[in-house]
Amino acid sequence: MAPRITVIGTGYLGATHAAAMAELGFEVLGLDVVPEKIEMLARGTVPMYEPGLEELLRRHAAGIEGSTGRLRFTTSWEEVGEFGDVHFVCVNTPQKHGEYACDMSYVEAAVSSLARVLHRPALVVGKSTVPVGSAARLAKLLAELAPAGADVELAWNPEFLREGFAVQDTLHPDRIVVGVAGERGEKLLREVYATPIGEGSPFVVADYPTAELVKTAANSFLATKISFINAMAEICEAAGGDVVKLAEAIGHDERIGKKFLRAGIGFGGGCLPKDIRAFMARAGELGVDQALTFLREVDSINMRRRGHMVELARETVGGSFLGQRVAVLGATFKPDSDDVRDSPALNVAGQIHLQGGQVTVYDPKGMDNARRLFPTLAYAPTALEACRGAQVVLHLTEWGEFRELDPAALATVVAERRVLDGRNALDAGAWRQAGWVFRAMGRPQA
Ligand code: UDX
Repeated sequence: MAPRITVIGTGYLGATHAAAMAELGFEVLGLDVVPEKIEMLARGTVPMYEPGLEELLRRHAAGIEGSTGRLRFTTSWEEVGEFGDVHFVCVNTPQKHGEYACDMSYVEAAVSSLARVLHRPALVVGKSTVPVGSAARLAKLLAELAPAGADVELAWNPEFLREGFAVQDTLHPDRIVVGVAGERGEKLLREVYATPIGEGSPFVVADYPTAELVKTAANSFLATKISFINAMAEICEAAGGDVVKLAEAIGHDERIGKKFLRAGIGFGGGCLPKDIRAFMARAGELGVDQALTFLREVDSINMRRRGHMVELARETVGGSFLGQRVAVLGATFKPDSDDVRDSPALNVAGQIHLQGGQVTVYDPKGMDNARRLFPTLAYAPTALEACRGAQVVLHLTEWGEFRELDPAALATVVAERRVLDGRNALDAGAWRQAGWVFRAMGRPQA
């Protein structure tokens, strides 16, 4: 019989994983400690914006008409313990307040609560991004607390999904990495992934520390790539070069590759910034902090981009934001997501507001989250309304909707035709033709 699956934590990662497992034919039970989240999911509503996820959820959530009924939700640990053979732990590990290290309390609480209800053989699979060494510690905790004792095993199976592509990335992963300490864990996970999900995806079996490190190393590499191209953008600006051309040209070298070389206001979100900081903190604990000092530079290049955008905007409006209206297009940390965690766009908007600018923000999906985080900014219902009367327009998150904007129509509502492209995604020629002063990051001013 196919193993029965539970998913602990139903955020971006957990909700997607649970729905994907149901799509593959497994019986799935999702648990979250927040009852409102569980109620929403059970009704077939996803609590965040993630393309394709709601359709997947509604196809399988029990109680939805016409669904397979394979996916159920609960807040009861006992039910989870009784139901599952394989338990995926998908809770988040945010950055600790005022520290580089990440907060492991949600993972620890989840594993402890789960352990206490494991009365029969089970595999617990960690998916959260954790500091190396956590899996070994959690395996000990399971052994101490689980009534089934040695019949409970732990595996580590990091997740590499991107927000905005979560469903696609979960159903068609680049690779499946499992960190195991025993044969049973590997066997069960091979069974789970011996479905279309694993077809064509390399299956890498490793020990716990290597599996944990694969995730942090991958995210550190991606962050480094972005900061590298942003450092080149600084050089290009000083020397009169064009970083977009440069990225395209170096990307033709397959060893370098074209992806993750988009210069702009840098990376944000709930993963890359906190993962590189947590990695540095962990290296410090391991006594090898020197190995990762370069990540400090990666982080500071990234943060400098936000400040640089603020400076460019200030310069554009004549040296001071006082009395100036600034339109901000984009609030989320990337397009096709409603996530505003550590969003470069909102950070720039907030800095300009603090310097006396009258900032109006518009974002296709992130308005509610942005309002909650930055209630003192002004918000407009459309891009056009956000731009009304603006002395400068800042394009800070590259939503497709902004590329479709008609620069000529926008020109009729602004006070001054000045636009700064913080993501190098707008068609400079079209804007200039419509009479705009167009400035992008790391590109010549024309
Ligand atoms: C990232 C990893 O890509 C994913 O594998 C991991 O599981 C979680 O962290 P995510 O945070 O969803 O995923 O976003 P990603 O697409 O990686 O973008 C991160 C940030 O980098 C965004 O703010 C994006 O705008 C920025 N970015 C990305 C750039 O500035 N330039 C680029 O070339 C690419």
